[in-house]
Amino acid sequence: MPNETRLRRLVCLTGFMGSGKSTTARLLASQLGWQKTDLDKAITDATGLTIPEIFARMGEPEFRRIEHEQLAHIVAEYAETQKPRIVSLGGGTIAQLQNLALLRECGAVLIWLQCPIEELLLRCAQITDRPLFRDEASFRRLYEERLPTYELADYRVDSSAEPPRVVEQILALGIFPQVAV
Ligand code: S3P
Repeated sequence: MPNETRLRRLVCLTGFMGSGKSTTARLLASQLGWQKTDLDKAITDATGLTIPEIFARMGEPEFRRIEHEQLAHIVAEYAETQKPRIVSLGGGTIAQLQNLALLRECGAVLIWLQCPIEELLLRCAQITDRPLFRDEASFRRLYEERLPTYELADYRVDSSAEPPRVVEQILALGIFPQVAV
């Protein structure tokens, strides 16, 4: 298959915690009739532990190791089956250079769901299952640290809107070819 076609068949959503990656991936995949994989879910399925449990029992370095391993599985499965797929990454996935390299190597498209920090704070403050959401100051710091990495994405869309509007923006990027699925 020509690389140009493959390039548009593994599409990964990146962005900070609370940017709507999982919901948007689900809606987008269902509209396209593509497969969908959530990296955090792949991690919890593989370990039988929740993300907070992994952080608490094994620490962040081990979480990152498992995250990389699971991402490599997803990429390998895609390479083998060539089935078009939307992947929602974790907020820190592409901040790990080996993950970014892996995605670049396989020709994945990266879309950054960009959302103002104030909106992210509002969304995440209500959900208590994020080990890296400790307090507002560290959340803001991590966001600033991560921005340069998200800026490496191929495309960005404003994800402060409702998920169906975010999906519309992604479809309007014009990167999804009319391919038989
Ligand atoms: C993380 C974000 C989380 C999860 C883990 C680490 C991060 O995913 O992977 O808690 O480093 O920002 P979400 O972005 O889906 O919350």
